[in-house]
Amino acid sequence: MKLTKLFSVLACAVLSSATVPTKTVKRVSPQFVQTQGSKFTVNGSEFPFIGTNVYWLAALNTEQDIIDTFSNISRLGINVVRTWAFNDVETIPENGTWFQLISNGTTTINNGTNGLQKLDLIIQHAERFGIYVLLSLTNNWSPLATDNLTDSIANLQSSVQSRATPVEVFNTSRARNFLSNDYGGMDVYVRQFGLKNHDEFYTNETLVQTYMNYTTQIVTRYVNSPSVFAWEIANDPRCNSSVAASPGCTANNITQWHSRIATHISSIDPNHLIASGSQGFLCLGCPKLFPLNPPAPPPGPSAPATPDRRTIAKPLTRARIIQERNERWKKTRALLPKSEQEQGARVRIRGRWVSTPTKRQDGVQGVGSAFDGSQGVDSEDILNIPQIGFGSFQLFPDQNSYGVDDPSLPAFNNTLQSGLDWITTHGQVANIYNKPVTLTGFGLVTQDNAPFFVPFNTTIAPFASQSTTNTTQNFGVTDSQQATAYSSWLNAGITSGISGLIQYQWSQGNLTGEPGTAISSNSDVTGQSSNSDTTSESPNDGYSIQGVGQSTIQGILQNAVQSVGNA
Ligand SMILES: *[C@@H]1O[C@H](CO)[C@@H](O)[C@H](O)[C@H]1NC(C)=O
Ligand SMILES: *[C@@H]1O[C@H](CO)[C@@H](O)[C@H](O)[C@H]1NC(C)=O
Ligand SMILES: *[C@@H]1O[C@H](CO)[C@@H](O)[C@H](O)[C@H]1NC(C)=O
Ligand SMILES: *[C@@H]1O[C@H](CO)[C@@H](O)[C@H](O)[C@H]1NC(C)=O
Ligand SMILES: *[C@@H]1O[C@H](CO)[C@@H](O)[C@H](O)[C@H]1NC(C)=O
Ligand SMILES: *[C@@H]1O[C@H](CO)[C@@H](O)[C@H](O)[C@H]1NC(C)=O
Ligand SMILES: *[C@@H]1O[C@H](CO)[C@@H](O)[C@H](O)[C@H]1NC(C)=O
Ligand SMILES: *[C@@H]1O[C@H](CO)[C@@H](O)[C@H](O)[C@H]1NC(C)=O
Ligand SMILES: *[C@@H]1O[C@H](CO)[C@@H](O)[C@H](O)[C@H]1NC(C)=O
Ligand SMILES: *[C@@H]1O[C@H](CO)[C@@H](O)[C@H](O)[C@H]1NC(C)=O
Ligand SMILES: *[C@@H]1O[C@H](CO)[C@@H](O)[C@H](O)[C@H]1NC(C)=O
Ligand SMILES: *[C@@H]1O[C@H](CO)[C@@H](O)[C@H](O)[C@H]1NC(C)=O
Repeated sequence: MKLTKLFSVLACAVLSSATVPTKTVKRVSPQFVQTQGSKFTVNGSEFPFIGTNVYWLAALNTEQDIIDTFSNISRLGINVVRTWAFNDVETIPENGTWFQLISNGTTTINNGTNGLQKLDLIIQHAERFGIYVLLSLTNNWSPLATDNLTDSIANLQSSVQSRATPVEVFNTSRARNFLSNDYGGMDVYVRQFGLKNHDEFYTNETLVQTYMNYTTQIVTRYVNSPSVFAWEIANDPRCNSSVAASPGCTANNITQWHSRIATHISSIDPNHLIASGSQGFLCLGCPKLFPLNPPAPPPGPSAPATPDRRTIAKPLTRARIIQERNERWKKTRALLPKSEQEQGARVRIRGRWVSTPTKRQDGVQGVGSAFDGSQGVDSEDILNIPQIGFGSFQLFPDQNSYGVDDPSLPAFNNTLQSGLDWITTHGQVANIYNKPVTLTGFGLVTQDNAPFFVPFNTTIAPFASQSTTNTTQNFGVTDSQQATAYSSWLNAGITSGISGLIQYQWSQGNLTGEPGTAISSNSDVTGQSSNSDTTSESPNDGYSIQGVGQSTIQGILQNAVQSVGNA
């Protein structure tokens, strides 16, 4: 296509997306998921749910494998599955699923049987099992195995929220689609359009239009499907990735992009809700593009007499977070023996205890990187975009910090507590903005799973050679700590008004292997070729529940399904 023609097409698209009215569109049928205040509804009834993440669904090799996976999930009463509705490649692979070729500034959709027809099968069978599918349209993470390893290793060792020193670090080459961060995404667009910075995905006009074009292809294909729970604009969007951010990237740029994409999707799909998919990071006190309380109109006889209910909810502020935290710390200290109550000044930094907090680490007066906008995400501002139907957040304590640790508590208790606090905070967000908020992914790496754990921003398994015999030194929690955390977090979500809770991630055995795909019969759970010919298990990026913990975690999910009363 001639460039001039391309640009005039783009210019029209810009104009048309800018003129879409922002009033809420009447949804066509109550069968589609809708919202009422901070709750979801289906067929006129409240619809709280427990879900699971199955990012590899479209990478399965047979229709029967998709059916078997849905069948096992549905057996527990789980009725929402979150999966990837993107699979970008830079060259067409010999085997395996792919949806979009992004190459040298052009994009091509694959609508064949190893392309969007895989997604068609997912939607079709989900409907059969009464399962809703939450579809994520791109990924923040798409690191290359050749990304600077020296750099990555140094970063990992200093940054992973480790309860121990990494034993060994090495890169492995796994089959494509084995890891959740190996399905393409923003950085593939950036690379193949000859750009340098990750955040140009959000701000370069050509990339914004190219991505809108992808969303058009997918969204229009399923616009009438009642099995689509909602559209998720991206998994974990933010300023940074393994491709560097430009220094000027701010949360406002990410919010602005959300507004444009959400406006576009809502203009072509009146049926489904739209969410961000971000990890829910906050930017307390930051300037808002979509403030909760727009400047008051000049007083006049027609001014409303009763204030909007949302103006009554207490806003989230830095002072409130610090005050609530100090109250909790005080309570914990009061429960400790007298001798230990004195030692108030210890702080855990990256898994180690130090006697006094340092300034660099934000000190005990700080709120931490989940609250200060340093991730380039302001999920309150995003949630208040009119076309955004509900909020999202995630909980991965092995990869992020969710506040300052209580110096009186052991490491695991802090992990557990910071998760509870993060969930409670998002329950408050739901209340303040009067929209539902969902926990779209939560997980903790166990010692057994540590060798398979690959952080989202790398291709490296830092604990690949960890032996599971030395439990005093190993990375990861015990199976019983994982079970405690999952059930406590699910409970906290249910009681603090989180409308949907989606565990990360499902696992499935007895799958059909094919060479050169994410499921190949001669690869073990690490995705590496091995001589022992194991049954083909679903991919594991460190959070899969296969193995010893499987029935316990499935039982916990099943209990949660019963408590939300939606089995
Ligand atoms: C909503 O109603 C439709 C049509 O009657 C039905 O097929 C569907 O299962 C219902 N969904 C839920 C979650 O109740
Ligand atoms: C990429 O596209 C440019 C401009 O369309 C063209 O000149 C170039 O040959 C292409 N490169 C490859 C490797 O296809
Ligand atoms: C939109 O996507 C389709 C399918 O991949 C592609 O053929 C077309 O060139 C794209 N258009 C633009 C303007 O990117
Ligand atoms: C795939 O897309 C091409 C080009 O738009 C179209 O001609 C073809 O009919 C489509 N095939 C299927 C199976 O949808
Ligand atoms: C990789 O990172 C190391 C450490 O930061 C640096 O010294 C080296 O120059 C980098 N290599 C490349 C190819 O960028
Ligand atoms: C991965 O993310 C962590 C923060 O979660 C960061 O400190 C680290 O530098 C990142 N590593 C790479 C290789 O980008
Ligand atoms: C945006 O990306 C396009 C396509 O690669 C490039 O030609 C253009 O220069 C970029 N625009 C800006 C402002 O950087
Ligand atoms: C990013 O947002 C800032 C405001 O925070 C704005 O000044 C800037 O122009 C935006 N950058 C781009 C490339 O749109
Ligand atoms: C830490 O957690 C464990 C297990 O949940 C619990 O038994 C213990 O009492 C907690 N310790 C403190 C100091 O709260
Ligand atoms: C486990 O690791 C600790 C700390 O490195 C070490 O002191 C201990 O001897 C190890 N135990 C075994 C059984 O290897
Ligand atoms: C595979 O199927 C067999 C026979 O149905 C069953 O006993 C076994 O538990 C399954 N394995 C896995 C990992 O699901
Ligand atoms: C693709 O599949 C064929 C048939 O199973 C197999 O012979 C071939 O080796 C595979 N290619 C790769 C790259 O694994």
